Amino acid sequence: MEKFADRGKSLTKLDGYVVFVAGAVPGDTVKARVFKKRKKFAEATLLEVVTPSPLRTEAKCAYFLTCGGCKWQHVNYESQLEAKTQSVRDAFEHHGGFDSVQVENTLGTDNTYYYRNKMEFSFSSGRWLTPTEISSDEKFDTSFALGLHVPGNWAKVLDLSECHLQSELSAELVNAVRTLSLENGWKPWDTRRHVGYLRHLVIRQSTKMPEMMVNLVTSYVDTERMALFAEFLQAQFPQVTTLVNTINSTQAQTAFGEEAHVIFGSGVVHDKIGDCTFEIASNAFFQTNTVQAQVLYEVALEYAELKPTDLVYDLYCGAGTISCFIAPHVKQVVGVELINEAVKNARRNAKANGIENVTFVTGDMMRLFNAAFVKKHGRPDVLIVDPPRAGMHPKVVDQIRELAPDRFVYISCNPMTQARDLALLSDIYKIDKIQPVDLFPHTHHIESVARLKKK
Ligand SMILES: C[S@@+](CC[C@H](N)C(=O)[O-])C[C@H]1O[C@@H](n2cnc3c(N)ncnc32)[C@H](O)[C@@H]1O
Repeated sequence: MEKFADRGKSLTKLDGYVVFVAGAVPGDTVKARVFKKRKKFAEATLLEVVTPSPLRTEAKCAYFLTCGGCKWQHVNYESQLEAKTQSVRDAFEHHGGFDSVQVENTLGTDNTYYYRNKMEFSFSSGRWLTPTEISSDEKFDTSFALGLHVPGNWAKVLDLSECHLQSELSAELVNAVRTLSLENGWKPWDTRRHVGYLRHLVIRQSTKMPEMMVNLVTSYVDTERMALFAEFLQAQFPQVTTLVNTINSTQAQTAFGEEAHVIFGSGVVHDKIGDCTFEIASNAFFQTNTVQAQVLYEVALEYAELKPTDLVYDLYCGAGTISCFIAPHVKQVVGVELINEAVKNARRNAKANGIENVTFVTGDMMRLFNAAFVKKHGRPDVLIVDPPRAGMHPKVVDQIRELAPDRFVYISCNPMTQARDLALLSDIYKIDKIQPVDLFPHTHHIESVARLKKK
C-alpha cells in the first residue's frame, strides 16, 4: 500500500488505477477483494496482510475495524501524527490550490486512549455481530444492543462491552445499563417501526472535576422507570453526579430531544480549560477532548498575537470557550453563535468566571454578519473563526473580505473546507503557517489552526 487516503483508508495504484483498502496501512502488502469498481478507482476489503508495514502496531480494541470509532488503532501514534500533518498539506494543495503552505508537525498527546469527555451510545433492536462473534459457536440475541453504530448503517449497533475512548468507568456503566434494561424488559428503539423506549445513553465525564452526567434519551416519559434508573445509578455508580432524561419522540436518530428533564443533581457538569471553568448542559457543544482543546486554544492565542487594546470577533463561538479563554488578554470579545442554548451557556460561563469584557450574539452568521453588525459592535482588530465541518458560507467569506483585519486565525475540524475558504481570500491574505492539533487519536480527524497575514 502506498499512502493514507480519505476516511482512514489506505490506497495503492495498480498500473495507475487507484484501489482503496480500509484497514490496510502504507507499507503493507495485502490481499484484498474488490467490492466496488468505478472508472478511476476501486474499493476493496482487506482479506490478509501478507507483509505487515513497519507503521503497524497492535490494535487495542476487540471491535476494531467493525466499529467505525477508531480506524487507526493499528497504526503507531507517531505515524498517525505524520499522516495527519500530510492530510492537512494535501487538503491545502488539492482543495485550496496552495502549492507551498507551511504546515507544522501535528501536536499530539500522551493520552491516546480514554481521552473523550463525552460518548453517545445508542440502543437498537438490531444488533450487529463482529466477524469473531459470527464465527463463534455462541448464539446471540440480536434484538437488543447498546453500543456504537457500525459505519454506514444507522439501524445496526455493535453491542460494546469495552470502548477505550472514554474512561473505564464509562464502559462499566454501559454494561450495567444494558443488564438493567434487559432484566426489566425495557425495549430499545426500533428504527424501522419507530417503537421502543430506550434511544441513547450519553455519558459526559468531566476531565478536571469529579463530576459525571448520565443522559438517558428515551422516546417518551416514564416516571416509574426513570425513578428506578435513578435509584440504580445512585446505588451502583455514586460517581454519577447528575441524571438527565431527554425525550426524543421523533424519527430523527439524535440524542437531542424536545424536552430534557433533570432527574437528580444539577443537570450540568463542569470542566476546565486553562483558568476558566465551563458549565456544560446535556445538549451543549463542548470540545470532547478537554486536554487537547487547551492545546488548540493556546495555539489560537499565540497565533492571534493579542494586545490589551484589541477588539476580537470570536465567530462560531459555541459555549464561548475561546472567548472566555482569550478575554483576559484583550479589551473586548464579541462572540457569535447559532444555537441559542449555547449562547445562554456562554453568557453564564463568562459570568461564572468573572469575565465582563465579552458579548455574545445569537444568530446565523450568514444573515447576521454584515455591515450593520460591524457598525453596532465595532471594527475588529482580530478575527477568530471556528466554523463547523462545512466551513463558512460564501457570504461570510465576503464579509471577512470587507473587514480584512490584519490578524485573522481560522480554526477548523475540516482542512478541506478551511483550504477552500482561504483560497477565496488568497488575494488579500497570505497563509503564514498552519498548526494541526490532534484531538482525536486513532481516528483520521484533525483540527487545524491557520494564521493569516494581510498581504
Ligand atoms: C466547531 S464548533 C466551535 C465551537 C467553539 N469555538 C468551541 O471551541 O467549543 C462550531 C460552532 O458553530 C456553530 N454554528 C454552526 N453553524 C452556524 C451558523 N450558520 N452561524 C453561527 N454559528 C454556527 C455551531 O453551533 C457550533 O457551536
